Amino acid sequence: MSWLEGTVLENRHWTESLFSLKVEAPRLAFAAGQFVRIALDIGGERVARPFSFVNPPEDPVLEFYGIVVPEGPLSPRLEKLAAGERLYVASNPAGFLVLAEVPEAKTLWLLSTGTGIAPYLSILRTAAPWQRFRNVVLVHAVRYARELVYQDLLKKIERPQFRYVTFVSREPHAAALSGRIPAAIRDGRLEAAAGVALDAASSHVMLCGNPQMLKDAAAALAERGMRKHRRRNPGHITVESFW
Ligand SMILES: Cc1cc2nc3c(=O)[nH]c(=O)nc-3n(C[C@H](O)[C@H](O)[C@H](O)COP(=O)(O)OP(=O)(O)OC[C@H]3O[C@@H](n4cnc5c(N)ncnc54)[C@H](O)[C@@H]3O)c2cc1C
Ligand SMILES: NC(=O)c1ccc[n+]([C@@H]2O[C@H](COP(=O)([O-])OP(=O)(O)OC[C@H]3O[C@@H](n4cnc5c(N)ncnc54)[C@H](OP(=O)(O)O)[C@@H]3O)[C@@H](O)[C@H]2O)c1
Repeated sequence: MSWLEGTVLENRHWTESLFSLKVEAPRLAFAAGQFVRIALDIGGERVARPFSFVNPPEDPVLEFYGIVVPEGPLSPRLEKLAAGERLYVASNPAGFLVLAEVPEAKTLWLLSTGTGIAPYLSILRTAAPWQRFRNVVLVHAVRYARELVYQDLLKKIERPQFRYVTFVSREPHAAALSGRIPAAIRDGRLEAAAGVALDAASSHVMLCGNPQMLKDAAAALAERGMRKHRRRNPGHITVESFW
């Protein structure tokens, strides 16, 4: 693995803690849903963290969506980068949250919390989900309504198969479900909001974001007879934990 030099083209601030970096860097081959390590030199050390690509693979400008973890070493510095500043991008994208690893299904569920929406924004802008699935449901759960980012991009996905369901957990918001994803899987509110069945016969579920959500959602899905997908033991759930 080697490091490539990237230049920040834009750092968009959605809220005081949410930002999106557009980066010009040498072309990288990756699959939608994968991540790459990005890094800064801090106090003489290269500090690197994985970030999912938001851009689809054919887009030459790299895009990453991040949150400031105030006590974290890297994210507060990434949030402060301005256009023209440098960062490093690893040369070896990786990750299994990709449609090539997903078996046939009628409905693809893309479940996320917080910045976990990032890899889905790449996947949704490729041809594969629309060619392979009758329904594609994007679910984004955030604490506050202002964290429902990338609305412009999502509005442009004018596919009849597409459903977009949101959760806002820490304030009332008329257009979103309240509470958390696992509870809404259990009590049927998620299925009702999407208007499609969530079951082992029809669905494959991708989970991305908060590791506790991944565990709790997988447990709720297990109650519906769904299990983790493995190449040698096909199932219905593919996960990527962000920490
Ligand atoms: C495969 C993979 C892909 C990732 N993709 C992204 C991405 O696209 N966008 C992104 O913002 N982060 C992503 N992360 C997390 C990212 O790598 C860093 O951990 C994060 O940017 C914080 O870095 P830090 O050095 O400031 O703090 P760290 O020391 O890395 O983390 C400190 C703590 O912050 C919390 N935390 C870390 N990441 C997040 C997060 N994303 N949301 C909420 N709390 C968090 C956890 O409690 C963690 O223990 C990904 C992680 C993995 C493993
Ligand atoms: N979001 C902010 O306002 C903010 C501001 C500054 C810094 N940060 C930093 O970012 C970190 C949190 O990031 P975030 O807001 O993206 O995180 P998050 O805690 O992962 O919350 C995102 C969504 O996931 C839900 N969730 C949490 N645990 C879950 C579980 N076990 N099962 C199902 N859903 C679950 C949350 O619901 P609940 O609300 O019910 O937990 C919320 O709706 C903080 O630790 C902090 O360092 C956040």
